[in-house]
Amino acid sequence: MIAVYDSGLGGILSLNKIIKDYPDEKILYFGDSHNAPYGNKTFKEISELVEKNITMLENVGVNDLVLACNTICSIVDFDKKRRLNLYDIISKTIEQIDIDKQANILVFGTMITIEAGRYVEELHKRGYHNISTHHLDKLAGYIENFENPSVIKNYLYDEFYKINARPDLIILACTHYPVVEDIFKVFYEVPVFNSRDLHFEINKRHEGHEVLIYMDKNEKLIKFLDKYLEYPYKFYEKSNSGF
Ligand code: DGL
Repeated sequence: MIAVYDSGLGGILSLNKIIKDYPDEKILYFGDSHNAPYGNKTFKEISELVEKNITMLENVGVNDLVLACNTICSIVDFDKKRRLNLYDIISKTIEQIDIDKQANILVFGTMITIEAGRYVEELHKRGYHNISTHHLDKLAGYIENFENPSVIKNYLYDEFYKINARPDLIILACTHYPVVEDIFKVFYEVPVFNSRDLHFEINKRHEGHEVLIYMDKNEKLIKFLDKYLEYPYKFYEKSNSGF
């Protein structure tokens, strides 16, 4: 079974492409909404949560785990020996970028993603050196909690005026952010890249098409799934019975 894991809702936007690429596979989406947002926690707190959840996913039979969360990918130990294969969203997000090497790139992410510095490091490796970063401490939490769009817009505009940047390209280094991508596009009027449409090389097992959501079932989540998930799904049997 393939699983897709995010701190909460954001990875649902990245899930569509994985379902499209693997139509004959069983795919489990796990969003750890009980503990979201991850991005303002300490490295130690996140790493404990992530290791616990990876073990849980190994125990329910996951073979391949796409980490649809930049914050998790910023702290997880990819070299650790595990029973499942891990797939990294950060390197894939960066691979999409093909622009003049002198371009000014502005990366928005959670506090942990920005502090961990993987984006800057990997962009440097690809020859990009004019990079600035900014952490949006409230944004993932707002989206996770279905905050009023005008509150989100005001918050973002305050941040944009504060940083006063003139980028040529923006990277949304958090899988929650594409929900409000238009606000970035309208303000900056430059191309905006995100982690939504990524292809991962996963061995096919042909277990049969099934999309399962492992999250607390509630009305707001169902509305969100109806809006952003392009495929039929079922709730996983363990949803609402503890994590
Ligand atoms: N969606 C996550 C990411 O890509 C994290 C949001 C959060 O939990 O802070 O970074």
